[in-house]
Amino acid sequence: MATAVVTGGTDGIGRGLAEEYLRRGFEVLVVGRDGRKGAAFERAGERARFIGADLSGVAENRHLVEWISQRYPVLDVLVLGARYHRQTRLLTADGFESNFALFYLSRFLLSHGLVGPLSRAEHPVVLNFGGAGQTGPVRWNDLQLERDYHGVGAMGHAGRLNDLLGVDFVGAYADNGIRYVLNHPGVVVTSFAGEYDPVTAAQVDQLRVIGKPVASAVAQILPFLDPPGREGLTAVLEGRRVPLEPKARYLDDARRLHDLTVDLLARFDHRTARFRRG
Ligand SMILES: NC(=O)c1ccc[n+]([C@@H]2O[C@H](COP(=O)([O-])OP(=O)(O)OC[C@H]3O[C@@H](n4cnc5c(N)ncnc54)[C@H](OP(=O)(O)O)[C@@H]3O)[C@@H](O)[C@H]2O)c1
Repeated sequence: MATAVVTGGTDGIGRGLAEEYLRRGFEVLVVGRDGRKGAAFERAGERARFIGADLSGVAENRHLVEWISQRYPVLDVLVLGARYHRQTRLLTADGFESNFALFYLSRFLLSHGLVGPLSRAEHPVVLNFGGAGQTGPVRWNDLQLERDYHGVGAMGHAGRLNDLLGVDFVGAYADNGIRYVLNHPGVVVTSFAGEYDPVTAAQVDQLRVIGKPVASAVAQILPFLDPPGREGLTAVLEGRRVPLEPKARYLDDARRLHDLTVDLLARFDHRTARFRRG
């Protein structure tokens, strides 16, 4: 039986995709924090499963990778959709800026960590909700937004980091047959998970009026996920394929971000190990 893992699958577009894969006969694991939403999803049948995890923590992501890899040697679809808006800058227990941790680092750990099971599938695909080239440049000297933090801007910045993650991923695993799709769905009426000040909450209310339904967002992205698909990387904006230009800059930036992330994780592991030794 084919398997799909959907982070952020307890709500919004992730939930819509999870239900679609259930209809297609997949075993579907949704990952989120809210046990009630998870239980509601599981009521859809025995192929519907919920895993509770806070993906803003490095250890939880690694644990999830291990858990999935042990139980599902073959993984057909990985959807990376968990996000949480924060009005003010917050550090996670690991010491990372929260958007950086959940919206980027988690997706880095899951993408790379699940290459083994994905490589064994016939037509593996990863869907990551990045910026699809629509967001501004990377703040290289301030990746975790210590200066001038802005909640909406922080999400856009993480979108850009995910574009670079996609570019780097397909370069690193060109021979593994894993397609990587970056999707900017446009404005979609979802739970808009997060904490908002009154002004931003009013703007979100407006988005609820003008946004498209989840079903439309799902219908726009599905054709790019379904096999056959030859390209390693596809960027999609509201159902249209868009180029990531300039290519050379994306490649350089993707490698740079990869190296910085590996270095950051190595320093995090070193700190954690020293703390454990006392
Ligand atoms: N909606 C839009 O207009 C829009 C526009 C552009 C891009 N996107 C992108 O599309 C993707 C899906 O967005 P959406 O609007 O459909 O989502 P959403 O309705 O806001 O739901 C967010 C999901 O993330 C999960 N989540 C939040 N914090 C988490 C944590 N710490 N650990 C694990 N899971 C966590 C939530 O699960 P629990 O509640 O169970 O914790 C929920 O399932 C996101 O990447 C978003 O950036 C959306």
